[in-house]
Amino acid sequence: MQNDIERVLISAEEIKTATHRLGKQIEQDYQGKKPLVICVLKGAILFMTDLIREIDLPLEIDFMDISSYGDATVSSGEVKIIKDLDSSVLSRDIIIVEDIVDTGRTLNYLMQVLNTRKANSIRICTLMNKPERRVVDVEVDYVGFKVPNEFVVGYGLDYAEVYRNLPYIGVLKPEIYTDK
Ligand code: IMP
Ligand code: MG
Repeated sequence: MQNDIERVLISAEEIKTATHRLGKQIEQDYQGKKPLVICVLKGAILFMTDLIREIDLPLEIDFMDISSYGDATVSSGEVKIIKDLDSSVLSRDIIIVEDIVDTGRTLNYLMQVLNTRKANSIRICTLMNKPERRVVDVEVDYVGFKVPNEFVVGYGLDYAEVYRNLPYIGVLKPEIYTDK
């Protein structure tokens, strides 16, 4: 698997430092509150589980699966709910945890859904932000890393469902896309 990686973009150590920074920032911002942390499956799973361990606050977690991508590296533009939340978001302080904000379509859709369900507040925490690719404007409150317009894998992010278990964020060798 590691042979398919052209270069490491963000090391495991850098991820750890950023996760700590974001967790402590959230801890400060949510003093006296009990936020509901929503993990956007599947990509944000590793980031979310590390992030919540940096937040010394009573909090709850939930999961939502939203799809705008097939196995392709190009967005279809279509967004749908694959798995909805178990909990009610009514009057809750929501922190959406994402792996990467790319076109912004997924989060724009999710924000609309949660707004109609009358959350008290909604903020977004993303490990990575790829602003060059933005199609829909979304306000991102907590960002780990700004990344260039390259397809990245690892630490939760996949290419055709593989590479999620890499402990770092890497750029795939171009032949991986073209050989298949
Ligand atoms: P958006 O709706 O275009 O912002 O898409 C966001 C979703 O697309 C992310 O949650 C990822 O699952 C996926 N995605 C976007 N860019 C990448 C990438 O470089 N590598 C892997 N997945 C990506
Ligand atoms: Mg995702």
